[in-house]
Amino acid sequence: MSDLPAIARTSCEGRTAWLLRTRRAAMLLSLREDGALILDHWGAGGASERGDDYLPRPPRNRPSHRAFLDGVPLAFPVHGDPSFKEPCLAVMFADGTRTVRLALRDDEIVERDGHPTLTLTFEDPVQQLVVSLRFEVFVEHDVVRRSVRLENAGAAPVRVERVLSGAIGLPPDRYEAWTLHGQWGAEYHLTSRPLAPGKFVTESRRGFTSQEANPWFAISPAGESTEEHGRVWFGALAWSGNWTIVCEVERNDALNVVVGVNPFDFDWHLAPGESFETPALVCGFSDEGLGGAARLLHRFEVDAVLPARHRETLRPVLYNSWEATHFDVRVLPQVELARRAAAMGVELFVIDDGWFGARDSDTAGLGDWVVNPRKFPNGLGELIDAVNGLGMQFGIWVEPEMVNPDSDLYRAHPDWIFHFPNREPTFVRNQLVLNFAREDVRANILEQLRRLLREHRIDFVKWDHNRPYTEAGWPSAALERQREVWVRHVWGVYDVIGKLRREFPDLLIESCAGGGGRADLGILALTDQIWTSDNTEAADRLLIQYGYSHAYAARTMVNWVTDVPNQQTGREAPLGFRFDVAMQGVLGIGGNILEWSADDLELARLNVAAYKRIRPIVQQGEQFWLADPGREDPCAVQYVSPDRRSTVVMAYQVRGRVGRGARRARLRGLDPARRYRRVDTTTSPAPDTTAVVAPGTAPVESTGAVLMAAGLPLFAEQPPDDRHTGDWLSDIQLWESPDP
Ligand code: DGJ
Repeated sequence: MSDLPAIARTSCEGRTAWLLRTRRAAMLLSLREDGALILDHWGAGGASERGDDYLPRPPRNRPSHRAFLDGVPLAFPVHGDPSFKEPCLAVMFADGTRTVRLALRDDEIVERDGHPTLTLTFEDPVQQLVVSLRFEVFVEHDVVRRSVRLENAGAAPVRVERVLSGAIGLPPDRYEAWTLHGQWGAEYHLTSRPLAPGKFVTESRRGFTSQEANPWFAISPAGESTEEHGRVWFGALAWSGNWTIVCEVERNDALNVVVGVNPFDFDWHLAPGESFETPALVCGFSDEGLGGAARLLHRFEVDAVLPARHRETLRPVLYNSWEATHFDVRVLPQVELARRAAAMGVELFVIDDGWFGARDSDTAGLGDWVVNPRKFPNGLGELIDAVNGLGMQFGIWVEPEMVNPDSDLYRAHPDWIFHFPNREPTFVRNQLVLNFAREDVRANILEQLRRLLREHRIDFVKWDHNRPYTEAGWPSAALERQREVWVRHVWGVYDVIGKLRREFPDLLIESCAGGGGRADLGILALTDQIWTSDNTEAADRLLIQYGYSHAYAARTMVNWVTDVPNQQTGREAPLGFRFDVAMQGVLGIGGNILEWSADDLELARLNVAAYKRIRPIVQQGEQFWLADPGREDPCAVQYVSPDRRSTVVMAYQVRGRVGRGARRARLRGLDPARRYRRVDTTTSPAPDTTAVVAPGTAPVESTGAVLMAAGLPLFAEQPPDDRHTGDWLSDIQLWESPDP
């Protein structure tokens, strides 16, 4: 970027305008006479601070009336604009007025935590509703973080029916949208669809982020963008409750994308003097395809979202005993598991569900966060001492927002759940949801967790959440406030985790929601890593991890190696393949290692050692998908260290084919001038992984330029007469530059 300021006041077609500039992108906002905020440009930058340079066109007659804004790209459409497009704001004033008119009161350009920030403050001239739109510019990340603050400066309450975090208006074109969809066991499937006239909505109404869809999107001109090429506008909402993303193709093919808290069942009573702040919408632009967009977002997450304490630290290799022992968590078998885990090189031993209250199955115990005396007759300390004595940290599972009716907590406080007095609650996994909008609920759960963490040496918490919200009633609140529960509950959860983090700053926290149901930039501001999916089967997992990795950084993505036949799919991938897939993010082991053979344990030890060798590159490097597992077999992903001296290539072939030629993957992100040498990550080859670089076909040393131009053969040719078709092949290659 040139020396031009990140935010400058300018003009565009005679209108007051603001130009926001990042390293490679620019956002031009201008104000119409009637107060509508136009997004004249959002995309590749240019070395100019003249607004008109971004919209060179002949002068037009100025409209003499409030011309309709449909088809005009707006940054914050409101119900009250002369427009029929999907708005970000809709309110009802005490006198029955349901339209908002915004007039700019002031603009302010300041540094906020080191980031140039533009705040445009509007006011409805009649109704004294103040609307502040904030744009924080992250110059190095090519990202603008947006949020909206409403303030009732009038004397009567305002009923807010919707307030979204912002709109992205793009000029007429043919677009496609990329989103993440799925369900339990199949989260984060990267899906693309052409945007046709009308609306495409992706959302959660389940009360939490959800497994079905994720608050991340990318937009590209239809057919233009691939993994590494083409323009991509992307966004992610920092919110773990109900959310919506609406992509609306307008009548002139312009695109209006609005993002924010879902207006479904939303209603906010904004009393005089009160304010409401939306979650942040992080939006960015890349002209390096979906992969470029992902890398920008990853860097932003690491530098500006993740809790500072563990941002830079390498995530430990963990063992989790859930699939080994389920609810049967007892001291001696756990110590046996811990011994084997430690011998493999595991650094963090985690006990999952089943250690507390009367928790012998999913029918009882949630809500009672006290150690079960029958399972731990000498207290939890006995197991923690053993785990620490083996040189590992200790972690524990909790599900604080949930309660079983068969629990002391529920028996004492049956009214603490979401409910409507005259409706039967819907049970999911025999549990109900505690209403964290209530202060007393938060205080109780916080105190229980505090006691647990104060009384035990616990380094890690896996925070689970296993059901969506139904009958989301809050009968003890004033009627006009009851629907605020959707938002206030999420704020309550954030509040409790935030307080725990402040009191226990070294704690590492993993967000889990029945698998991967809670990954978003809101929860990632409070937790360090995410349990990606309960489906740990390696082939399925390739797709899940591929999608996840387009939105969230590798250091947040936890993957376990589990047993075969897989508990979810029944398929049997070899152990080496399972390790190689799990190494894509934060490596964990989740099988019943008491039943693993000596060979398996030795293979595991070698793989854990190999992972530790490549871990800094995977967790702290940049990610490039070389071949997409959804479309290609073999597929491959590459990570490049920040200094570009080291790279790891991971390749997978689920099903071989007779006569298949060796595919090449052209590497990315290397320094063209450097030489790179292939380095052995293991001390001996894994017995059930096939040697994948056929002798003589792959160089053991090459230049960055050639590796990026000619590429690496991923797997050997399958000769036409070969009856072994090469199923379940995988390979992890580490290349390092010996150059100074
Ligand atoms: C769902 C999680 O995704 C699993 O990993 C495990 O923790 C179970 N809950 C325990 O109930």
